[in-house]
Amino acid sequence: MLRYLIGVDVGTTGTKTLLVDEHGQVVARAFDEYPLLAPRPGWAEQEPEEWYRATVSGIRKVVAQAGIRGDQVAGISFSGQMHGSVFLDRAGQVIRRPLLWCDVRTADEVRAINEAVGRERMIAIAGSPAMEGFTAPKVLWLQRHEPAHFERIASVLLPKDYVRYRLTGELATEVSDAAGSAMFDIERGCWSQEVLDVVGLSSAQLPPVLRSIDVAGRLTAQAAEQTGLPPGIPVVAGGADNACGAVGAGVVRPGRAHVSIGSSGVIVSYAAAPLRDGGGRVHTFNHSVPGAWYVMGVMLAAGLSLRWVRDELGQAERAVADLAGLDVYDLLTREAASSPPGARGLWFLPYLNGERTPHADPHARGVWFGLSSAHRRADLIRSVLEGVAFALRDSLEVFKEMGIEVGQLRAIGGGGKSPLWREILADVLAVPIARLNIDEGPAYGAALLAGVGTGVWRDVAEAADATVRPVEGVDPDGARTAEYEARYRIFRSLYTALRQSFRDAAAL
Ligand code: XUL
Repeated sequence: MLRYLIGVDVGTTGTKTLLVDEHGQVVARAFDEYPLLAPRPGWAEQEPEEWYRATVSGIRKVVAQAGIRGDQVAGISFSGQMHGSVFLDRAGQVIRRPLLWCDVRTADEVRAINEAVGRERMIAIAGSPAMEGFTAPKVLWLQRHEPAHFERIASVLLPKDYVRYRLTGELATEVSDAAGSAMFDIERGCWSQEVLDVVGLSSAQLPPVLRSIDVAGRLTAQAAEQTGLPPGIPVVAGGADNACGAVGAGVVRPGRAHVSIGSSGVIVSYAAAPLRDGGGRVHTFNHSVPGAWYVMGVMLAAGLSLRWVRDELGQAERAVADLAGLDVYDLLTREAASSPPGARGLWFLPYLNGERTPHADPHARGVWFGLSSAHRRADLIRSVLEGVAFALRDSLEVFKEMGIEVGQLRAIGGGGKSPLWREILADVLAVPIARLNIDEGPAYGAALLAGVGTGVWRDVAEAADATVRPVEGVDPDGARTAEYEARYRIFRSLYTALRQSFRDAAAL
């Protein structure tokens, strides 16, 4: 009897659930959306109950779609949006809505942590200085702004760990998400007392840290009833979405790297040792491959920028897409393709929610530069796709300075599905962009981890080797790359010119 694995990615726009057979074939998929709440500008929160509901619904859907029996599911595992702060009280209840990775309210707390611990020391401990999105400053924010909530904290969990807790009743995390908390020593593999002292937590308020491939618990009777699966199914720890994205893209060996355009945009390179950037511009975190790390540049609004275009400028496309059953993003990128490379002299700075790599600036904001009465909507849309590519190029430049060579990038995430966006990425980054035979992103990595944790594959590299490979690529075009090179230089100069103005505007 064929065995199956379930991989769940608790994302920012929704939860994706995959059912994969023991040969790695995707048999069924589901996506359940939920809102991203912004009670104030720069704030981003979500209801953990929605994550759980979406997971239960996704599991029910994929099992029903495939028509398999529940006892054929050998294991479940998770990928999840990183850094979000799930504060639980002693009864295991959520104290307040978590602050998410793209929430930038914590600028003061970031400064306080980096000053108290020392910025360089933070990089040595946590692989990156404290940044607004990370969990540690969120804890300090709660202490300073909502002390009554802070006093009630019994445990702090990461988003996917909360969902796994609801399924198994066990509090746990694993190295790749622990790393994103900025409270974890990425080299020693344990919570850092030094950072905990500064944010006012004790290690008893943090869960045990497993490997991504460890079984973290088993489906409880209650979760079994809700999901329709038999109780006792092993639930494997899983990983941060970027670590799972790497696993699902086969970035499990030295020399491999991927680019992901989800809500955020990242470039990730496998690292056999914890190589850090002295300037703290990129993050070095523990991988879901036991004993390995990855180096990652993060831009905050990649897919989010195009989603903003869709919502604010794309009403017509939305209506057409709804009527004709088309994908609204296809319509938008088709329109963008009618604008030439360079969007006829228009630049977009995609800093809608501030930026991480390389600027670490919560005050930066989106900008259109070069706008003239000759520009059309197509140019606006194209400039957004190009602006995201330029911002990712900033990460690649840091990688080069660190001596990390990237010969090819495997593309994952919704943005990687757009041929135009892949072409722009290849030309702007001057690196071949490969597609994969299986284009499912972090949820697929989670399914592979479920398989490793339950003995379907011996280890993560074996799982990835057996299932994932690059299939087709787009190579940079010489003439367009040269054209973008000149435009990239202007893109870079714009942030420098505006840095102080962003600060002044934020202070108003
Ligand atoms: C990485 C980061 C984002 C989220 C998106 O540091 O903040 O990529 O993981 O889910």
